Amino acid sequence: MLSRTVHVALGERSYPIEIGTGNLRDSGRFLLGRRHVSHAVIITDSNVENRHAMTVAESLSDADMLVDLLVVDPGEASKCAEVLEGLWNKLLELGADRRTVITAVGGGVIGDLAGYVAASYARGLAFLQVPTTLLAQVDSSVGGKTGINLEGAKNMVGAFWQPIGVVVDTAVLDTLPIREYRSGLAEVVKYGVILDADFFMYLEENVAGLNARDPEVLREIVAKSCALKALVVSRDEREETGLRAVLNYGHTFCHAFETLTNYSTLLHGEAVSIGMMCAARLAERMGRIDQELVDRQYRLLTALNLPVDVPAVDHDAALKVMARDKKVEHGKLRFVLPTRMGHVELVGNVAPEDVLASML
Ligand SMILES: NC(=O)c1ccc[n+]([C@@H]2O[C@H](COP(=O)([O-])OP(=O)(O)OC[C@H]3O[C@@H](n4cnc5c(N)ncnc54)[C@H](O)[C@@H]3O)[C@@H](O)[C@H]2O)c1
Ligand SMILES: [Zn+2]
Repeated sequence: MLSRTVHVALGERSYPIEIGTGNLRDSGRFLLGRRHVSHAVIITDSNVENRHAMTVAESLSDADMLVDLLVVDPGEASKCAEVLEGLWNKLLELGADRRTVITAVGGGVIGDLAGYVAASYARGLAFLQVPTTLLAQVDSSVGGKTGINLEGAKNMVGAFWQPIGVVVDTAVLDTLPIREYRSGLAEVVKYGVILDADFFMYLEENVAGLNARDPEVLREIVAKSCALKALVVSRDEREETGLRAVLNYGHTFCHAFETLTNYSTLLHGEAVSIGMMCAARLAERMGRIDQELVDRQYRLLTALNLPVDVPAVDHDAALKVMARDKKVEHGKLRFVLPTRMGHVELVGNVAPEDVLASML
């Protein structure tokens, strides 16, 4: 089987990400290679249960583990205290203990929720990630952020909790709805712009393969994306030095558009795509890059069928939302902006007029 491994270097919390095609059915072997566990609790959602979680369950069972399956409703609404409490109580009924591994099989919602179950139950259980959306494979399964939402405050309660390993099978993406797939590609493009000009060029040269979900291209982009995010995370695991902020390229605009459209019209990656266009135009306005970079980013995003036009929201309202963003210091707007392809900087004291103009 063609697979490759990306190592996430975090001292004693280091772990491997195995990336292959068709390797879901080998997850039992992978897990046993990491740790001796006798009981696995798989947490998944009802869209993923029959498609992929059962394959993982069989593989773990074949590796002599007792396997339990807990299924929640699909969607962001499951990342809440009520569902979390329900899962805690199920674990109690199932007699979960230190020999139990919590296994997340699903997208970012399941990864964040199950990861926080693992972080919190019995003061911490081992955790295996099996991400099944492109977004989860390239972004949310790397970095150890887990948690749930409060009403009106996304990801407000949570913990940094690293998995003991991640199994990525690109074949699971075959069943992913097309919008969800494209949405994940936006984060992939982001890694090229912020950290790796060669990778951006690889994406430009492989648009056809990307659109066709070619397995070899998928293994390459997932491996590269994970490696790039892992590098950033290993230098700033708990978001303390500011280095991890580079991952927020396009996200200040993105959050404003998501907020003002009530998280209902745009998928996250779609808002990231539009946000990256705004950020690139802002950088160009401020004389930090020339138009060439803006154009290349535009061409790649549109070739991947991602949206690039700002949604119909009030621009002043968007500015107000951005002024409340985490990256604002003493009321001054700060943005992650490119200086050249493959490099970004955190730029402070950005003029509101420039921000407004970059949304046109
Ligand atoms: N922890 C982090 O660092 C981090 C980073 C980015 C995003 N996130 C979180 O990730 C979440 C979004 O993740 P997402 O985009 O994966 O959404 P998601 O988990 O809701 O998955 C999207 C949809 O695809 C379905 N699905 C999943 N895999 C499938 C498959 N293989 N085939 C068919 N359908 C499938 C799901 O049931 C769901 O309906 C948000 O809650 C966000 O806050 C976390
Ligand atoms: Zn994102």
